Amino acid sequence: MRSISIAIDGPAASGKSTIGALVAARLGFVYIDTGAMYRAVTWAALERGVAIADEATITALAQQLRIDIINTGPADGRQYTVLADGVDITWAIREPKINDHVSPVSAYPGVRSALVRQQRRIAERGGVVLVGRDIGTVVLPCAEVKIYLDATLQERARRRWAEATARGLQVSLEKVTSELAMRDRIDSTRADSPLAVAADACVIDSTTLSIDDVVTAVLGVIAEKRGCR
Ligand code: DC
Repeated sequence: MRSISIAIDGPAASGKSTIGALVAARLGFVYIDTGAMYRAVTWAALERGVAIADEATITALAQQLRIDIINTGPADGRQYTVLADGVDITWAIREPKINDHVSPVSAYPGVRSALVRQQRRIAERGGVVLVGRDIGTVVLPCAEVKIYLDATLQERARRRWAEATARGLQVSLEKVTSELAMRDRIDSTRADSPLAVAADACVIDSTTLSIDDVVTAVLGVIAEKRGCR
C-alpha cells in the first residue's frame, strides 16, 4: 500500500488506541499514540517536582525531554513501550495522578508546539496511524484518512472503569465518569488545538459497536478513500 497517513481523533476512552493499534497492525503501518507524549511530559514534570501551573518550566521540559515510543518491550500487556530520556515509563504514565494532570499540561501552547513538531517528523514518510485529539485538524491536516471516534460518556466511563478494575485498581464508576467529563471539558474548550471534528473526518460512534466492528468500519473508510484516488 502507498504510504498514506491515517489520523484518528476522539475523546478520552473512545477506543482510539485499541483501534489505532489494530488498524496499524493490519496495514503494517507505524502506530503512534500521541497522548502518550503528553503523558510523558506530565510524568517528567511530576517526577522533577515541577508545579503543574509552572507553564514556562513545563514548556522547557517538553522541548528538552527525549520521548521514544517503540513497538517492543516485555510481554506484560503493553501495546508499546514509552521511554523518557531512556527510562521506561510505559505503565507510570497510566497512573491516576497522570490522568489528573495531563489535560492542563496538554493545554500549554509551548508544550503542544514542541510535541507537534516531533509528531510531524515521525509522520513525514507516511505509513503511519497517529492517534490523538488534534491529528486531523492540526498535526496532519493533509492526512489522506481522518477518523473521529466517539462514544457516549457513560460507555467510555464503563470501559475505563473495567480496564482499571481488571488491573486491580479500586475506583468507582462515578469517579471515573466525573474525571472523564472533566477531561472532555478541558480538552475541548482549551484555546490551542481543542478536540474537534475535522471538516473532512469520518465520524464513527462506537458506543454499541464491538472492537471488530470498528476496525472493519475504519478499514472500509480507508479502502473507500484509496478507491477515490
Ligand atoms: O489519549 P490520552 O488520554 O492518553 O491523552 C492524554 C491527554 O493528552 C488528554 O488530556 C488530551 C491530550 N492530548 C492532546 O491534547 N492532543 C493529542 N494529540 C493527544 C492527547
